[in-house]
Parts: sequence; structure tokens; C-alpha cells
Amino acid sequence: MDKIVVKGGSSLSGEVKASGAKNAALPILASSLLADGTSTYRNVPDLVDVATMLKVLNTMGCEAERLTGRQKNVCQVTIAGPLTPEAPYELVKTMRASVLVLGPLVARYGRARVSMPGGCAIGARPIDQHLKGLKALGAEITLTEGYVEARAKHLKGATINFDLITVTGTENVMMAAVLAKGRTVLENCAREPEVEELAKVLNKMGARIEGAGTSVITIDGVDSLHPVEHSILPDRIEAGTLLVAAAISGGDVLVKHAVPEHLEPVLQKLREAGCTLTTENGGIRCKAPKTIHPVNITTTEHPGFPTDMQAQLMVLMCVANGTSVISENIFENRFMHVAELHRMGADITIQGPTAVVKGVKKLSGAPVMATDLRASASLILAGLRAEGRTEVARVYHLDRGYERLERKLRSLGADIRRVKA
Ligand code: EPU
Repeated sequence: MDKIVVKGGSSLSGEVKASGAKNAALPILASSLLADGTSTYRNVPDLVDVATMLKVLNTMGCEAERLTGRQKNVCQVTIAGPLTPEAPYELVKTMRASVLVLGPLVARYGRARVSMPGGCAIGARPIDQHLKGLKALGAEITLTEGYVEARAKHLKGATINFDLITVTGTENVMMAAVLAKGRTVLENCAREPEVEELAKVLNKMGARIEGAGTSVITIDGVDSLHPVEHSILPDRIEAGTLLVAAAISGGDVLVKHAVPEHLEPVLQKLREAGCTLTTENGGIRCKAPKTIHPVNITTTEHPGFPTDMQAQLMVLMCVANGTSVISENIFENRFMHVAELHRMGADITIQGPTAVVKGVKKLSGAPVMATDLRASASLILAGLRAEGRTEVARVYHLDRGYERLERKLRSLGADIRRVKA
């Protein structure tokens, strides 16, 4: 398996572009199931998770592909004939977000058979709220042999109050409701920019959705939708990770395409840590402080501090001048990077959902193992700062969600390379 090898100590500088957002691309690709014809998506990041979603669509009988050469960030999905509305275990087990096909399939084809996702490294991650929403729209849901089967002759609009805020749950039910008869009101919705982006795409396809980006979304069902062309918004988590790379390496980096409004809670914490942040030339510049100040962080749903940036900020706090308290409120098991950071000399104590991080003078390079996507990015960030050589194993996690991160960091002056297995 590939490894990333980082030699710490280089201060990063220059400009780098944020790629398209993984967590927008995945639901948007799934939404292509709602219309016959060819949809074209631009700025689609070249990631393993995106390839998995294209595979899920192809398995059902769509023609889903990434173009090549100069068009390599374009994906096209064509639906020309009947589909087998099924997402098999072999694919869902490698990517939970495959469950996003459930809503569109039941809305469009009246039935869906999707392998029930299991838990994953960061938590149990049930899908009860997705199913609650689909049931409320009139789908009959059964669980057989590890598969969720949903059937409905016609979905019917309903008012659904989610018991908790769920990103893909909101997206799945929204995609089902666009073809339901009458009005659906979704309450207690996720407000992430990716939910708003999906609604934008659905509206371009002919849907009638209002309120996406707020906690109440109203959807008036339509009879049919048409394919679209759309360019995916920039990845706020990748952008945030690159800003932390600038901060932890004592650098000065402009992350182009980063959208300040999408990153506000992260920018606020970086400012508190002493970074100088400026918006310029269609991006955000981060200039590292001489001394990193400790900052307390609590992850919550958008517009709060994102759980997907918790590991990266924790690494920054590992070298702060003082003690920080970091609370993880979204996933019950998202501190797996801590044991690896201990191997690099970090001083972190975990008390339930809270990590107390005492800043240390230096981290030292070590062989470490990535446990999930954001953890793998955080170990690379630690490696940028550490004395000596850090080897991050299991980088397949990284490739699920970061487009050539090591190349981007190298272009900024990092001493980093991928060692092929
Ligand atoms: N939850 C339930 N029941 C449900 C749905 C969710 O109990 O039916 C719980 C989850 O177990 C979790 C919390 O609600 O404790 C929030 O989960 P959510 O459903 O919002 O997460 P998700 O939709 O599965 C998306 C992102 C994640 C990101 C989370 C939180 C995609 C494809 N994935 O997951 O991204 O961490 O929202 O913002 O959009 C990542 O990119 O690294 C990543 C894990």
C-alpha cells in the first residue's frame, strides 16, 4: 500500500487551488438518477469516493464516466434505458454515501434496494432519519438480508421533522420529495453549503425547492425533471486543511477558490490562534503567527465548527503555546488520530467526547497510521511541523477525499512524497 513520507520543517508559501467539494459531488451525482438524458458536471474532484459513486451508477445501468485529458474534472451521467435500482453491498461497504441513491431511486422508479451501510471508523452512523423521511413520504421500507428495500407507487408530500440534524439524510429525503405529489416541508434540516448546492442543482433540473441552507426546506413536487450542466462548488474542508498547513508550517499561503462564508467558523478559530487571514483574489490567504495561541473548539452542525476540520485544528493546537479543549459532538469515535499523534510527541488527554491538548515545544517525526479520511490529513499536517521524517501509512483513506494533497503541498514547498507500494 502507498505511503506518504514527509520531512518536516519547510515553511509553506505560494498559491494553491481548492478542488471541487467531495460532499457536494456525491449527492449531485446521485441526483442524476432523477432524469433521463445526460447530465454534465464540472469541477468534480478526482477522488476514490467519486469513482465509487460512478461505479454505483454504472452497476445500475447508467453510463457514468469521468472524461479524460483537459476535461478530467468533468463527469457525465447518461440515463438512456431501464435501470436496476440496486446498490450492492460490495460498493456500499466501501462508501456509506452510496446510500444517497435511495431517495432518487424510490422517487423515480418506485423501488430501490440498497445495502444497509454498517458502522465505520468514526461512529455507528445509523440511517434511521433517512428511512423515517422516506416512510413519511409513503415509501414502504423493509430490511431483508442486509438490504433496505423501499417501495412506493407514488410518493406523497408530507411534513417531516428530523429528530436530529443529518446532512445526507436531509439530501436523501429532499431528492425523494422533488418528485412527490404535493408539498413537502422538511424541518430541522442540515444547513451545510453542500445541501444548498444540491438544492440549486435540483432546481436547475426543474424542481421547486425553497429554503435550502436554512433549517426548513419546502419542496413542491413536480412530475418530471430534466438533466443539467453544473460546476461543483469548492471544497471548504480541503481549503480549511490547506489553511492549517500554512499556519502549522509557519507559512504564508493563498488558497484560491476558498469561499470565506463557507469557512467562517474555521477562520474564526484560526484568527484566535493568531493567524492573519485576508480575502484576496478569489481566495483566502493565511499567514502564520510566530506563536500559535491555544483555542477551544466544539464541533457542531453548520454554521458551527465542522467535525471534518476537528483533527486538523487539533494538530495545530498540539504546538500551541498553552492548553486547548476540543469537544467532538457529531461522531462518537472521531479521536482516532490522537493515539497516532501521541507517537509524535503530542500531549493529549481524552475525557469522553473531549480532548485536552497541551501544546508541546516540538513534534517528532514517526511512522503513523491513518484511520480515516480527516485523520490522515491531520497526520500529514503534523508531519509538516515535526522534526525529522513522518511516514503516514494507509493513505487510501486520504485518496477518498483529497485530490492529490501531497502534490498541492509540494507545490507550496513541502518536502513530501508518495511512496508507491
Ligand atoms: N445520524 C443518526 N441517524 C441518521 C443520520 C445521522 O443518528 O439517520 C447521526 C450520525 O450517526 C452522526 C450525526 O447524526 O452522529 C450526524 O451525521 P450526518 O448524517 O450529518 O453525517 P453524514 O451525512 O453521514 C456527512 C458528510 C461527513 C460529515 C458529516 C457531518 C457526506 C457524504 N458526508 O455525513 O463527511 O462528517 O456529514 O458534517 O456528506 C468526511 O467528508 O470526512 C465526512 C465524514
